[in-house]
Amino acid sequence: MKKFVLVFMMFCFALQADPREDALKRNISQLLPTLDGWCSREKALEFVDLVLEVKPQVYVEIGVFGGASLIPVASALKFLQQGIFIGIDPWDKGECVKYFDPVRDPINYQWWSSLNFNQIHLKFLKAIKANKLTPHCKIIRDTSERAAPQIAAIDILYIDGNFSDEGSLQDVRLYLPKVCSGGYIWMNDTLCDPKQNAIDLLFDDCELIKIIDQGNCMLFQKR
Ligand SMILES: C[S@@+](CC[C@H](N)C(=O)[O-])C[C@H]1O[C@@H](n2cnc3c(N)ncnc32)[C@H](O)[C@@H]1O
Repeated sequence: MKKFVLVFMMFCFALQADPREDALKRNISQLLPTLDGWCSREKALEFVDLVLEVKPQVYVEIGVFGGASLIPVASALKFLQQGIFIGIDPWDKGECVKYFDPVRDPINYQWWSSLNFNQIHLKFLKAIKANKLTPHCKIIRDTSERAAPQIAAIDILYIDGNFSDEGSLQDVRLYLPKVCSGGYIWMNDTLCDPKQNAIDLLFDDCELIKIIDQGNCMLFQKR
């Protein structure tokens, strides 16, 4: 009897799995290690699952870096053949360290100051082209503050830009009003001190849906 139940459950699972979605996820898992950034396989597949479920018209990421999160999500939009990914990042050292105090936070200050952002940006643009994602992406090389007037309604927002208290608070203040009611917001680095005020602000208008990446990334839904 036990064997029968197991075989029946496996049969039901096989019926549910979409081989095209499986192929998409396999492709993304292979691509991930080639991309610069901070996106685990778990996180990438969570992002992709939400996109496949919501089928967003507009997905915005603040803080693109090498595209480790953007490329998987833009691949899902290409798979759906709908929606646009708006990626915002100044790729500029001065903007990155703007709120870091070289004395109080020398590690972050030095690490971000040592990066070659033009090289990272160029490699990212090549990955977009190589994966034929250009029609699904609008890339804005500017700060989230200066890019804000160009953005209207957002279905899914990923806040992973300036790491500071000031920067992340500003991103919530400027971009949360643009997220549609029922829309989603991913917030990264949720275990880090500088993000706590921004998270509090999100709680004012959103429900917490889930926490992934060992507690370091939260998904909210706007009321
Ligand atoms: C942690 S990285 C983003 C990682 C990327 N989301 C990923 O998943 O790999 C933070 C990025 O925020 C960008 N950034 C810094 N200040 C910014 C600002 N004011 N507006 C938008 N992006 C900013 C940096 O250039 C950097 O590329």
